[in-house]
Amino acid sequence: MILVTGGAGYIGSHCVMDLCKNGMDVVVFDNLSTGHIETVEKLKQFGNVEFVHGDLLNFDDISGVFNKYKNINAVIHFAAFSQVGESVENPQKYYINNVGGTLNLLRAMLENKVLKIVFSSTAATYGEPKYIPIDESHPQIPINPYGQTKLMIEHIMDDYNRAYGLRSVRLRYFNVVGADDDINIGEWHNPETHLVPNILKSCFGDGKVFNLFGDDYDTRDGTCVRDYVNVVDLANAHILALKYLENGGETNFFNIGTNNGNTVREIFDACEKTTGKKIALDVKPRRAGDPATLVADNTKAKNILGWVPNHTLMDSIKTAYNWEVKLQNK
Ligand code: UFG
Repeated sequence: MILVTGGAGYIGSHCVMDLCKNGMDVVVFDNLSTGHIETVEKLKQFGNVEFVHGDLLNFDDISGVFNKYKNINAVIHFAAFSQVGESVENPQKYYINNVGGTLNLLRAMLENKVLKIVFSSTAATYGEPKYIPIDESHPQIPINPYGQTKLMIEHIMDDYNRAYGLRSVRLRYFNVVGADDDINIGEWHNPETHLVPNILKSCFGDGKVFNLFGDDYDTRDGTCVRDYVNVVDLANAHILALKYLENGGETNFFNIGTNNGNTVREIFDACEKTTGKKIALDVKPRRAGDPATLVADNTKAKNILGWVPNHTLMDSIKTAYNWEVKLQNK
């Protein structure tokens, strides 16, 4: 059985679905602060999914999961706050929750001799890029508390590996987009801060305008370049990481991106094309903390995990749109 913390959230739920499709039993642990119980209910249709409502900051909550499910053999850890801007305004919230919560999880794992973990890390651990594409040897100098918390956890995992033999795979995600191909689940944040859902939300009447943050960057059209990776492909990277650990793989870390960058304007145009709608756009000043370009070098994930992204950007925008239509009707 696999324990998935944060399995009611956007990326976690897609991973649970993939685990189910691979015939694995799952226990989802989530405090539902940003995840949704409806998502968990939907996931139960795809396999053996148990749900425990609890908080990682409460050691008894997470320890209780290991007491109840004695056959947990690995953990995939998504539960975290993940908004960069919010982390700058309220760093304490991020350090306590992301680092403190992970310490409790790791303690419960050690006490129960569960010594394999796949962890959601982020491109934000690299900070301002010194070169593009970014490979895993790029210096990790985060420029916001969110990235700091993820990097601290990577370091903690290295120390626990040396001292206790706890092996980890850290997946450093770039920009995640899209929804499950059958649109059972998708991205559901409140408030939404991410690019693609924000563009798509602007095409449902009610006078909403999409705000584009900065068109004076040193890029091909002046807007920021990001590497957009499909959420189903990303979920699959976790399955491969789990298999890697099960086959005795050592602690490791991988970029999960596509090696391709797209500008905000290109994404905007692709959304207009997919929806067939004219979307209102306002150019606003730059958003604090946005680097001009972030693109992954994913060679290592391809070579060692055998990970291959199968979805195109248009696939991702299509599923994101179809999911957004569903959300609007909720
Ligand atoms: N953007 C807009 N308008 C919006 C939202 C975003 O113009 O309404 C722009 C941003 O300024 C940026 C780009 O679209 O240039 C992408 O922004 P997102 O907020 O979608 O994503 P980020 O690149 O800021 O952050 C994402 C994750 C982080 C992670 C980071 C790593 O949300 O958790 O990728 O690259 F750390």
